[in-house]
Amino acid sequence: MASPEHIIAVGGGKGGVGKSIIATNIAAGLASSGKKVVLVDTDFGSSNLHALLGIYNPAHGFANLFQTTAINPQSLLLDTKIDNLQLICAAGDNPGSSDVDFETLNIIKNNIRSLSADYVVLDLAPGVSYSVVDFFNLAHTGLAITTPELTSVIKTFSYIRAVLFRKIGDAFRGKENLLRLVDHSNPTHADMETHSIKLLKEKLLAIDPKQVLVVETLVDSFKPCLVVNRVRYTKDLKAGDNLIQLAKKYLGVEPVYLGYLLESDRVRDSVDETLPFFIKEPDSKPGNNIHKIIDALTTKVS
Ligand SMILES: Nc1ncnc2c1ncn2[C@@H]1O[C@H](COP(=O)(O)OP(=O)(O)OP(=O)(O)O)[C@@H](O)[C@H]1O
Ligand SMILES: [Mg+2]
Repeated sequence: MASPEHIIAVGGGKGGVGKSIIATNIAAGLASSGKKVVLVDTDFGSSNLHALLGIYNPAHGFANLFQTTAINPQSLLLDTKIDNLQLICAAGDNPGSSDVDFETLNIIKNNIRSLSADYVVLDLAPGVSYSVVDFFNLAHTGLAITTPELTSVIKTFSYIRAVLFRKIGDAFRGKENLLRLVDHSNPTHADMETHSIKLLKEKLLAIDPKQVLVVETLVDSFKPCLVVNRVRYTKDLKAGDNLIQLAKKYLGVEPVYLGYLLESDRVRDSVDETLPFFIKEPDSKPGNNIHKIIDALTTKVS
């Protein structure tokens, strides 16, 4: 079975921070450098990538998998007006379409893993539901997008923590007493105080000391990436530093800073023009921002 060389997930806890715009422009940038790229919409409740690329009535997409699972993933691909860039649409806006069951999600993940491409770029839904977090963890490289506002920085920190705790939870599967330390999904069963890796390790030391090493190994190998969007002033870039400090202090994780995207009318206009700004104006300031993010992605992380 074929598999993509590299899967990149673009996420971030808060809605509207620019996940879809950045995923689309990174995918377009990689495609225009000659790489074979598949952009994948995993926002089943509110898909919009097709609209960003000027495709209004997608002929097919993951919605087909909800009817029959015996589908070759390559047959779900749609061509776009950008050379080397293909798209897989999500379900659409039908009520209930975001409630994808566990089994179907697994089929979708296997489909993604078996795509034949140089790069697969996943656009994630907002929030920290397990399905979103699992798509982030499926990727070789996960990008968390934040804007400079404090609320967004805090949400993005919580997002990175949710992803890490989910990884640790996977390692604890079947051990209920350990799972409650990292599963915050059910407040009546969860240990809501365990919010830092230091505290988690202290608690593990008392219950099951062997697991401390398991946690340390997972923490050391976790390298989320960070992009700051909607930057207007130099001081906005501090948001990236603040987030990195928070992640270091509470999680022992140092996110890899990839760059920023300026607040720009060119970005907003590109949504109405249904053409990624990177394709229309690669030498514009936002176009250059994407260039730098892609350079950092392909050099700092791989
Ligand atoms: N750098 C920017 N400059 C100007 N406008 C921007 C910028 N980034 C995003 N926007 C605006 O914000 C809107 C939302 O962006 P986008 O759809 O990428 O967010 P999202 O994080 O994917 O949202 P959701 O959580 O709903 O999926 C865009 O349609 C665009 O108008
Ligand atoms: Mg989006």
